[in-house]
Amino acid sequence: MVSAKSVRRIGVLTGGGDCPGLNAAIRAVTKTAIMEYDLEVWGIEDGFLGLIQDRVRKLSTGDVSNILGQGGTILGTSNKSDPARFAVGADLEGRPIFADVTATVVETIRQRELDVLVCIGGDGTMIGAANLVRQSVPCVGVPKTIDNDLMHCDLTVGFQTAVEIAAELLDRVHTTAASHHRVMLVELMGRNAGWLTLHTGVASGADVILIPEIPYTVETICEHCLSRSRQGKAFTIIAIAEGARSPEGKATVSRTVADSPDPVRLGGISQLLAGQIERRTHLETRATILGHVQRGGPPCAFDRVLATNYGHAAINLVLAGHLNRVVVMQDGHITSVPIGEVAGGQRLVDPHHPLITAARSIGTCFGD
Ligand code: F6P
Repeated sequence: MVSAKSVRRIGVLTGGGDCPGLNAAIRAVTKTAIMEYDLEVWGIEDGFLGLIQDRVRKLSTGDVSNILGQGGTILGTSNKSDPARFAVGADLEGRPIFADVTATVVETIRQRELDVLVCIGGDGTMIGAANLVRQSVPCVGVPKTIDNDLMHCDLTVGFQTAVEIAAELLDRVHTTAASHHRVMLVELMGRNAGWLTLHTGVASGADVILIPEIPYTVETICEHCLSRSRQGKAFTIIAIAEGARSPEGKATVSRTVADSPDPVRLGGISQLLAGQIERRTHLETRATILGHVQRGGPPCAFDRVLATNYGHAAINLVLAGHLNRVVVMQDGHITSVPIGEVAGGQRLVDPHHPLITAARSIGTCFGD
């Protein structure tokens, strides 16, 4: 058992899909640990993969200088390295063979004398951290994901930047849609959660917002486009989440990443729906999939501040002896919850969320 007093050396990793603000979080964790508490900080490369392969390097404050506004992660990341289900090879058909390599990870942590692991990540990373907690490895979590779907956390690092990027792109689609009198669908990421599409759609004044939590009917969407045409508004902007679906439909899968613990990658629903809308309405319709541009580039000021607060709070938790918890935002306050309560769950949009009510009241169609 590690007591706050005995903590000397901290490991930090970024896991899962990257997002803007990871470096700001690494910087806050590292600087707080070194400058405020005189601890050693060791950076783990490529998430849990660095612990499986023993790729760990000592970080100085100099290593994290000038990275506050830098996109990506200086440590690298991986969304294929859950130690409990790690692809160690392939069978004759090329299917991955999985093994539990948790013991290897625990051994690296022991050899490197890491007293606590700071895991910056989303639900997949928290599953990995919860697994290590069960092996008596003390962990603290920092929430990040552009999907904003971490359980018990109102705001994850990266979300606000993704909204800013996507809203700007939707604004750009808006002008060309107006010029050409087209229906334009813009597909956003977010997996099974509609947060990114909801906030971006509202921010850019999308006429239709389609999210996984509110199944749509093609008829309703077409009627909305046609009614806009009848009112002399010859274009329609539709913000659609990659996980959006009709009541009877399934989410559209773009690819399966066999060696990933969460192998399904969504995508392509906008193209399918564009064809259906065009056939039914005879309005010229186009689809744009925004893709990974939503995760790239520098974090906005809000995410830099959030990541700094979260990183600092994570180290304070460690030193206060409040281990095995994730720093979270709830009702505008930073607090923490046990890692086990966050791991593996997904925070979805409540169809009666106030932002949906507000959007509906200004004429936004949700396809239902
Ligand atoms: O979880 C972040 C996210 O960007 C999702 O919104 C998206 O569905 C997924 O990751 C894409 O994963 P990949 O980077 O493996 O294509």
